[in-house]
Amino acid sequence: MNIQGTTAFVTGANRGIGRALVEALLQRGASKVYAAARQLGSLDGVVALDPQRVVAVELDVTNADQVAAAAQQAGDVDLLINNAGKLDFGGVLEADLDSLAGQLDVNLYGLLRVTRAFQPALTQATGGVVNLLSVVSLAPMPGIGHYSASKAIAHSVTESMRADFTESGVSVFGVFPGPVDTDMAKDVPMDKTAPEDVARDILSGIEADQHDIFPDPFAEQVQAGWAADPKAVAAQFAGA
Ligand SMILES: NC(=O)c1ccc[n+]([C@@H]2O[C@H](COP(=O)([O-])OP(=O)(O)OC[C@H]3O[C@@H](n4cnc5c(N)ncnc54)[C@H](OP(=O)(O)O)[C@@H]3O)[C@@H](O)[C@H]2O)c1
Repeated sequence: MNIQGTTAFVTGANRGIGRALVEALLQRGASKVYAAARQLGSLDGVVALDPQRVVAVELDVTNADQVAAAAQQAGDVDLLINNAGKLDFGGVLEADLDSLAGQLDVNLYGLLRVTRAFQPALTQATGGVVNLLSVVSLAPMPGIGHYSASKAIAHSVTESMRADFTESGVSVFGVFPGPVDTDMAKDVPMDKTAPEDVARDILSGIEADQHDIFPDPFAEQVQAGWAADPKAVAAQFAGA
């Protein structure tokens, strides 16, 4: 799928990977980028990247009314990037179940709400959907059990979406980053990749029609390890 000339919509576009994606989309010649965030004011710097092509949209992906309004406002979208995400630390035996619900509301239900709302536009454009998953969609890491679970279900839903969109020709991409140097991973004691590099690799994966995108060196190692021996990757993560 070509980025040049596309009209994209990015959730969670005010910081981290989302903001880097907006910048990368502009660099690759997108016609228009809807940058969505919970707080409109947090998008000022993103709109300033190119006020002619960036449109700020207020969107909390847990708010069904805002999701419907965003889809109405952005009916010309052909590339939807479900980037907004939430991570709470904690193991599955002790973390508050409300925290699991909160992460599911963003990482799973949010992704579904937004994709369903944009389905007519994407179908009309024969466009694409990109879901930000994680290497922990494949196997969980200790200390982020609920987040891992939310990303594992989002992976399953991404596979289902791909099957359900087959007839309409809409492409569905799953992205499986390793640790990325953003606010989300600031307390993760691992080597991290810059969000700009991750955004660039995501767009290259879309342009190459790679359904599963592993956009950083850690992720590439996981992809190779997963193909060779999934249990070894699970054991590596469990000891991480
Ligand atoms: N960083 C990593 O190591 C890593 C690795 C694998 C996958 N990922 C995934 O990549 C995506 C981007 O992560 P990131 O690292 O850029 O995280 P980040 O820096 O923490 O940014 C998260 C973004 O999601 C937004 N968001 C959170 N809840 C939202 C909601 N209810 N509605 C709308 N937006 C919401 C945040 O908005 P506010 O500013 O309003 O809070 C922010 O823009 C996420 O899906 C994450 O799970 C990240």
